[in-house]
Amino acid sequence: MQNFVLKGHICYNQTPTELAVQEDGYLICENGRSSGVFPVLPERYQNLPLVDCGDRLILPGMTDLHVHASQYAFRALGMDMELLDWLNTNAFPEEAKFQDPEYARKAYGIFTENLKKSTTTRACIFATVHGEATEILMDQMEASGLITYVGKVNMDRNAPDYLREESAEASAQATVKWLERTIGKYEHTRPILTPRFIPSCTDELMEALAGIQKQYHLPLQSHLSENQGEIAWVRELCPDADSYGEAYDRRELLGTGGPTIMAHCVWSDEKERALLKKRNVFAVHCPQSNMNIASGIAPVRAFLKEGVPTGLGSDVAGGSSESLLRAMTDAIQASKLRWRLVDESQKPLILEEALYLATKGGGSFFGKVGSFEPGYELDAVVLDDMRLAHPQTLTVKQRLERLVYLGDDRDIWKKYVAGREIR
Ligand code: GUN
Ligand code: FE
Repeated sequence: MQNFVLKGHICYNQTPTELAVQEDGYLICENGRSSGVFPVLPERYQNLPLVDCGDRLILPGMTDLHVHASQYAFRALGMDMELLDWLNTNAFPEEAKFQDPEYARKAYGIFTENLKKSTTTRACIFATVHGEATEILMDQMEASGLITYVGKVNMDRNAPDYLREESAEASAQATVKWLERTIGKYEHTRPILTPRFIPSCTDELMEALAGIQKQYHLPLQSHLSENQGEIAWVRELCPDADSYGEAYDRRELLGTGGPTIMAHCVWSDEKERALLKKRNVFAVHCPQSNMNIASGIAPVRAFLKEGVPTGLGSDVAGGSSESLLRAMTDAIQASKLRWRLVDESQKPLILEEALYLATKGGGSFFGKVGSFEPGYELDAVVLDDMRLAHPQTLTVKQRLERLVYLGDDRDIWKKYVAGREIR
């Protein structure tokens, strides 16, 4: 059913700082897209099926712009390390297990089930270096009905023998093989090029991937300027570049070959941010990961002010929860600490901005996604705050704020992706 009406308390962003609220409103879905929000049901829609959400809140579906499906098993484990030690101790040994398709089916099955139950409707996902396991994840994501980009990871240096791809050529070949199998195979699932980060990709591999990107017209995702030790390492590995961002740019991996996502950008200075903006690269703020592996706090206020496209990421398992509600709360809280302790000129995020980042901000990577303005693909979550009893009558905005801080998967009543109900 892709033509219907949702009736309830409708909340969404048109701009980062304003929340549009329509109490007891009507949200019209035609052919999977919004035809707008109305206070009274217009005559012309009166014969569409109506889903009465009662006293519940209707929000745009959320986009997780950065998540490692292959790290889901060790979320909330081994968090007392910084990035490079954490990768060696936790991430690499776990990711190696996905050599075995049976393990991949089981582990990705758990991830997929839980993502399906969350407020996330779209995601950009890292798998592992293994083509076969990545395809298994793509099959599962497709069956879930969520809309996702999934990437087979590339790494041909600075990884343990058991995980490192044999050579740049072998990595590029495996990527092409995976692409040939998966491009066009799915309705809701697309491949995305995924060089892990500069320390794990030789110049030769990055050059090959830039070529593949152009040949197949692919988007690309990676990590940028997350951790001080990592940044110092990239400076050594790429003496030709003034910054980490410029190092990607010189290798034609920073938005010149297709739509691009860079996770973290915690230490991106004004110059690096200007480059992201110029190349229309999405910066992903992953606040829980910033705290867990003590990377720092990304300058989200600066991203927003300066017009860098920005979304939120769980970065599981750097982040321990896949919940975008949690990511919104963490983004607000981290921005307050940054304001107090790092830069008093950069005001903290407000609720509206956090919702914007989780919906329209990150959703824009997928096109017209993350709002209910006419023409937007209709991704929606219907939230029920019955569980969060309160002795007073609250406004819809107050109820939204409590759901963001206190809500979880239990409070989701219905979920739609591009007008399709996810069950
Ligand atoms: N940088 C390179 N790989 C990773 C990863 O798996 N997680 C995080 N948070 N940062 C990375
Ligand atoms: Fe990450």
